[in-house]
Amino acid sequence: MILLVNPFSILAETVSPIYMQSFVILMLVLIIVGTLLDIIHKKNVKYFFENAKKAKLSATKTLSSGEKISVISKTIISEIATTSELGTGKRRVAHLLGMYGTILFWIGSVIMIFCYSNSSSDTPSFWPIIWHVGAIMTVVGGSWFWFFLRVDVYSEAQPWYRIIKADLFVLALVASSFFGLIWSYLQYLNLDDRWDDKVFLVLFIISNLVLFGGVYWSKFAHMFYKPGAAIQKNLAEADGSRDNLPPEADAPKQFGLGIKRDEPKHY
Ligand code: HEM
Repeated sequence: MILLVNPFSILAETVSPIYMQSFVILMLVLIIVGTLLDIIHKKNVKYFFENAKKAKLSATKTLSSGEKISVISKTIISEIATTSELGTGKRRVAHLLGMYGTILFWIGSVIMIFCYSNSSSDTPSFWPIIWHVGAIMTVVGGSWFWFFLRVDVYSEAQPWYRIIKADLFVLALVASSFFGLIWSYLQYLNLDDRWDDKVFLVLFIISNLVLFGGVYWSKFAHMFYKPGAAIQKNLAEADGSRDNLPPEADAPKQFGLGIKRDEPKHY
């Protein structure tokens, strides 16, 4: 069954594992370089720390280490692990599918490429399952988001086929999982003189180069920034500094009935 087959160990019959391992390392280097360039260009991390330092001056309480650990653990469980920022609807479900799918797909790739990529390797079936299921989750979550939920289509009435630079991340992410799945399947069919699995292997490689090579231009790095920002926001809430924002009004929410007439989805 295809879910149980490690595609990298079949590939190792024709391509040395050292090339696959070098490719993974190159992708890691691209993430680091792309994120650092992004940080230098946007100065976001500099702003982040300066802002946090400034906000600290208006803190009304000093948090103990225990309190800090508690705030950080709660943030990891809620905001980061379950992306609670996205509310309760389909947006959050689609994101969780894509996020955990990607994490499984990447972990599965690294383990199979570094530990089980000899053509003689006996891969425990757990890893190919993780890899294939992760890829399917990413394709489902990412496509759901891109075709139906992204703001341009959902709220701004743009046609689904309009592609802009902001789509680079989600499209490259979906493409890499999708092409990986098709490549794995065609290769699994094991028909000797076939060339189509090679076409999809090339597409798989190209989509990965675009995904990881595009970090500077895409939304890739949000997976690092968002957790940091969520932790800072919750610490600022707990120490009373609130990032220098005014406290919430101590008054009932009275917006009138008009607020209920239309779902708030116009950005
Ligand atoms: C492996 C980790 C992750 C992956 C693969 C991932 C994937 C994605 C994708 C594909 C999008 C759509 C991008 C677009 O607007 O075109 C997205 C958006 C978003 N992500 Fe992530 N993400 C990850 C981690 C996180 C984390 C840790 C957080 C929060 C702590 C987060 C919060 C968000 C938010 C708030 C959006 C905007 C959603 C929207 O516009 O509906 N993501 N993410």
